[in-house]
Amino acid sequence: MLKLGRTLIDTRTLDEGIARLAAEVDRDQAGRPALLVGILKGSVFFLCDLAKRLKTPVSLDFLQVSSYGSGTKSSGNVRLVRDLTTDVAGKDVIIVEDIVDTGRTLQKIIEILGTRHPKSVKICALLQKRIPGNDDVPIDYLGFPIEDVFVVGYGLDHAEAFRNLPYIAVLEPDGDGSPAPA
Ligand code: IMP
Ligand code: MG
Repeated sequence: MLKLGRTLIDTRTLDEGIARLAAEVDRDQAGRPALLVGILKGSVFFLCDLAKRLKTPVSLDFLQVSSYGSGTKSSGNVRLVRDLTTDVAGKDVIIVEDIVDTGRTLQKIIEILGTRHPKSVKICALLQKRIPGNDDVPIDYLGFPIEDVFVVGYGLDHAEAFRNLPYIAVLEPDGDGSPAPA
């Protein structure tokens, strides 16, 4: 079994990091509007807090991909399950993602959006796991690099649980000796 473990990033630290990211986006956009594309469902808390901090005029859209199922390892098989309702052609698009693990999800999304003639595509990720091979994902705005642990809260889930925690915590084996599910 898995249980909620230590707090990795508390609410105040999240707020500070998001304020910093918003300032970076505002500086780069210099008043030009942007389309924030949130990746459902994990990015919604982050996207809302980021958008509220931005002075850049933004519109919002969402897409959903599935790769994890209910395990704690990426399946690597990324499918588009819900598409945008907005035309991205000619727009500055900022993809807003909760966490970059293997980077496959973002690669797939960049591939999909790249065919639709946006003016630019940037990536804003709250978290990135430090694992070999994922540092070639072109993240323009990164909140926090983290160790390679499974985290929940602030939008991130395990089998749909824990999304509404207001901070990021580590999911840990509960110590009764039983192996964690794959
Ligand atoms: P990637 O394709 O391996 O980069 O995985 C990215 C996606 O997997 C994220 O959008 C999350 O939805 C999910 N994910 C990756 N790591 C975690 C984690 O530690 N906790 C919760 N979800 C995660
Ligand atoms: Mg996600």
